[in-house]
Amino acid sequence: MFGKSNNRVDKDQVLGALKTVQEPELHQDLVTLNMIRDIQIEDSKVAFTVMLTTPACPLRHQIEDETRAAVMKLAGVKEVQVKFDAQVRGDNRIPSKLNVPIKNIVAVGSGKGGVGKTTVAVNLAVALAQMGAKVGILDADIYGPNVPIMLGVDSLPPLTSEQMTPAFAHGVEIMSIGFLVPDGEALIWRGPMLHKAISQLFTDVAWGVPSGATGGLDYMIVDLPPGTGDAQLSLAQLVPLTGGIIVSTPQEVALSDARRGFTAFQRLSVPVLGIVENMAGAVFGVGGGEHAAAALGVPFLGRIELETEIREGGDAGKPAVACCPESSQAEAFRTVARKVAAQVSVMNAQRPAAPKTPIKLEM
Ligand SMILES: Nc1ncnc2c1ncn2[C@@H]1O[C@H](COP(=O)(O)OP(=O)(O)OP(=O)(O)O)[C@@H](O)[C@H]1O
Ligand SMILES: [Mg+2]
Repeated sequence: MFGKSNNRVDKDQVLGALKTVQEPELHQDLVTLNMIRDIQIEDSKVAFTVMLTTPACPLRHQIEDETRAAVMKLAGVKEVQVKFDAQVRGDNRIPSKLNVPIKNIVAVGSGKGGVGKTTVAVNLAVALAQMGAKVGILDADIYGPNVPIMLGVDSLPPLTSEQMTPAFAHGVEIMSIGFLVPDGEALIWRGPMLHKAISQLFTDVAWGVPSGATGGLDYMIVDLPPGTGDAQLSLAQLVPLTGGIIVSTPQEVALSDARRGFTAFQRLSVPVLGIVENMAGAVFGVGGGEHAAAALGVPFLGRIELETEIREGGDAGKPAVACCPESSQAEAFRTVARKVAAQVSVMNAQRPAAPKTPIKLEM
């Protein structure tokens, strides 16, 4: 009889074992999803790489445990090394006419102003970059373009070609409508002018250059102005948005605001990735955002407490995830980032194959 140690396992057996492991969110097995790379077998030791659909994968540990257990079950295997890499899959509706591919565009909106959209947008962008993604942030807020302030930059790098190079801070490429026009002037823009400006923020900007993202930006986070006006409309007409995030405060009355944000995204055919509850705590209470998510039937993406440090960090250009990565606030923002990335992966996996004629960027 052959003892266990005499069996030599082969790649097909390893693939067979890994085929029994489901990607927890995409509900298909890892082999069918083409997520297994570089299987190495040396005597009783097996190593392989799991290619995640986002470096911000929230279920990495679960996948690690389950793949290891599945391969350990094979006769002749005594040691399993699971490595991870990530390749963000893109929203196949986004036109490739841009300089570098922008794989996913995620807009941050709300039903009303001052709820923390920009705070959530910058911390989300920085957290995704910290996790290894290539990230850009586009500030489309004509009323108060304050993404640059919250990321501690005040101008663009000098112009060296026809294209503007985005600013770069905390690992994130930054472009703001505030860089294009003097303070307050964008406010008076309407319709075509605004449309043109927002389209330039996509096409006349050398996205990908500062972070060396030759393969494309994985996530472009867009900070929207409050309300449901021209900027939202222009953006949605220019490029397909992979998804929208609604930021809401925790009061029970926040449901009507969240619903307004939800309806605005729906009207523009933007799928809603979920709701973030911001400013939770003793002052405004807790739970309104979560209830709104349940009432609207969308995922709850996480809760951020009301903390003086968050406001101070914003004022000083140091987002919580960058200045105090150990803090509970930073962890709360990272939880939101992981959930958003997971929702984007799920949405892209569910989307039908690319249309035969790609949607054109109209400008
Ligand atoms: N969780 C929080 N704790 C403490 N302060 C916060 C928190 N979230 C946001 N803030 C502060 O509240 C103010 C408004 O936040 P922010 O500018 O992000 O909101 P907004 O929704 O983008 O506003 P607007 O509608 O004007 O664009 C800022 O001063 C910000 O620093
Ligand atoms: Mg804002």
